[in-house]
Amino acid sequence: MKFNSNGLFISFEGPEASGKSTQIKLLAYFLKKNKIPFLITREPGGTKIAEKLRRIILDKKANITATEEILLLMSARMNHINNIIKPALKEGKIVISDRFADSTFVYQGHVNKYGMKKTIDLHRILLNNFLPIKTFLFILPVNQIIKRLKKRNVTNKYDKIDTSFHKNVINGYMKLSKNKRRFIFIDALNSTNEINDKIVKSINNLILK
Ligand code: TMP
Repeated sequence: MKFNSNGLFISFEGPEASGKSTQIKLLAYFLKKNKIPFLITREPGGTKIAEKLRRIILDKKANITATEEILLLMSARMNHINNIIKPALKEGKIVISDRFADSTFVYQGHVNKYGMKKTIDLHRILLNNFLPIKTFLFILPVNQIIKRLKKRNVTNKYDKIDTSFHKNVINGYMKLSKNKRRFIFIDALNSTNEINDKIVKSINNLILK
């Protein structure tokens, strides 16, 4: 397989329990099998400092305002971009991040009402508008999210079993992705194999471009 050596930055986004992590594992399996260099990372997190900030950001008991939370997220992100993402891209790797800036636009900008446009503007100013080339956006009906979460251990402050919260998350992603070619929509109700096929096809198209 011919490999474009410039590196590609890809993110996975969507509401809780939409199956992103399973699909990232399957994609990693495919890349490994085909000897395509890659790096899997996540947000908030990806570096030592950013993982420490993740604990604070997702702490149910942390007493922080929406603005303070955004600043923590963005400093974690800058540390992640500079120390992990950019160096790996330079080495020609496919960098796959489980969530990235779109999560901030949706969760803090839209759901927590900081303002989506204001959050996007901050990203542009502070992080030079560094964004993935493609984003797989997983969409799942709210009742399915609740059903899946009930089977899981609810661990962080955004894992809540609350219909209106998850509706708001989905609406935020819909608003954000409207008319933007960066997003590839994934129907999370499809089977694991069907979703994997779609993702692998898209990645192949990107690599062979
Ligand atoms: P996850 O690792 O299970 O996807 O959980 C991370 C949680 O953090 C998820 O509920 C979404 C939330 N989050 C934000 O609120 N803002 C962000 O910028 C990011 C990256 C995640």
